[in-house]
Amino acid sequence: MKTHFLRPFTLSLLILVLHSFTTTLAQPVAPPPAPSGPTNVTKILEKASQFTTLIRLLKNNQLDDQINTQLNNSNQGLTIFAPTDNAFAALKPGTLNSLTDQQKVQLIQFHVISSFLSTSQFQTVSNPITTQAGNSNEGQFPLNVTTSGNQVNVSTGVNGATVGNTIYTDNQLAVYQVDKVLLPLAMFGPHTPEKSSGKVADSPISDDHGGNVDDASGAYGLISKHEITIALGFVLVVACIRL
Ligand SMILES: *[C@@H]1O[C@H](CO)[C@@H](O)[C@H](O)[C@H]1NC(C)=O
Ligand SMILES: *[C@@H]1O[C@H](CO)[C@@H](O)[C@H](O)[C@H]1NC(C)=O
Ligand SMILES: *[C@@H]1O[C@H](CO)[C@@H](O)[C@H](O)[C@H]1NC(C)=O
Ligand SMILES: *[C@@H]1O[C@H](CO)[C@@H](O)[C@H](O)[C@H]1NC(C)=O
Repeated sequence: MKTHFLRPFTLSLLILVLHSFTTTLAQPVAPPPAPSGPTNVTKILEKASQFTTLIRLLKNNQLDDQINTQLNNSNQGLTIFAPTDNAFAALKPGTLNSLTDQQKVQLIQFHVISSFLSTSQFQTVSNPITTQAGNSNEGQFPLNVTTSGNQVNVSTGVNGATVGNTIYTDNQLAVYQVDKVLLPLAMFGPHTPEKSSGKVADSPISDDHGGNVDDASGAYGLISKHEITIALGFVLVVACIRL
C-alpha cells in the first residue's frame, strides 16, 4: 500500500532530478552556439593562428570591438587585408613602436575596406580604393589593386603585397591574408622622413617583437586559455561524478 502511494511522487522526483542533471550538463558541453552569434573578427583570426600581432594591435586599440560592431550594423560588409606575423616581423625594427597610438589605428584602418569584396570583385574595383584610414588622394592613404588571372596584388605607393589565402568569407566579411604590412604614403611616404631617424635609433633593441608590453599581453592570453581548458575539464569531471 505504502509503495503504491509513493510511486507517482518518486517518479516525478526522478524526472525532476534527471531534468536538472541534463540542464546543468548541457551548459558546459554546449556553450552558446558560436556560428549563429554576431561575427567575431578576433575569433576568426585566432582560428587561422598566424595573426597574433594583428590581433594584439586590434585589441590594444579597441578596433576589434569596433569592427565587430560595424559588421553587425552594416549591410555593405567589410574586407580585411590581414598581414601575417611574418609580415609584421619583416618590418624594419622599431616601426610599430615609432608610431603614435593614432598612427597605429590608422595603419590598421588602412587594411580595412568598408565594403565586402569577393575575389572576383577585385578584377573590377576602381583604383585607388578607399580604406577606413580615409583620404585616398595621392600622398594620403591610396590603395591600388592589380590583378592578373587569379592573382591579386595591392600597392600603397610605398610597398606592395600579394593577396593570399582567403581566411574567411561569408558574403558580409572577407578576410584575406597578405604577405606584407601595407604602409600608407601619408605615414611612410617620401615626405615623412622622420620615420627613419630619431625615435627608432634611440631604442635599437626594443623593437616590436621584443619583450615589450605587447608581447606580455600575448602571454597572458595563453595563460587564460590554459586556465579555461583546466576549468572546462574540471566541470566535465564533476558532471560525470554527479551522473
Ligand atoms: C571574440 O572572440 C574573442 C576570442 O575568441 C573573445 O575573447 C571575445 O570576447 C569575443 N568577443 C565577443 C564580443 O564575443
Ligand atoms: C547587433 O545588432 C542588433 C540589431 O541592430 C542589436 O540588437 C544587437 O544588440 C547587436 N549586437 C551586437 C553584439 O552589437
Ligand atoms: C604581384 O606581385 C608579385 C610580387 O611582387 C609579382 O611577381 C606579380 O607579377 C604581381 N602580379 C600582379 C598581378 O601585379
Ligand atoms: C593607383 O592608381 C591610380 C589610378 O589608376 C594612379 O593614378 C596611381 O598612380 C596609382 N598609385 C600607385 C601607387 O600605383
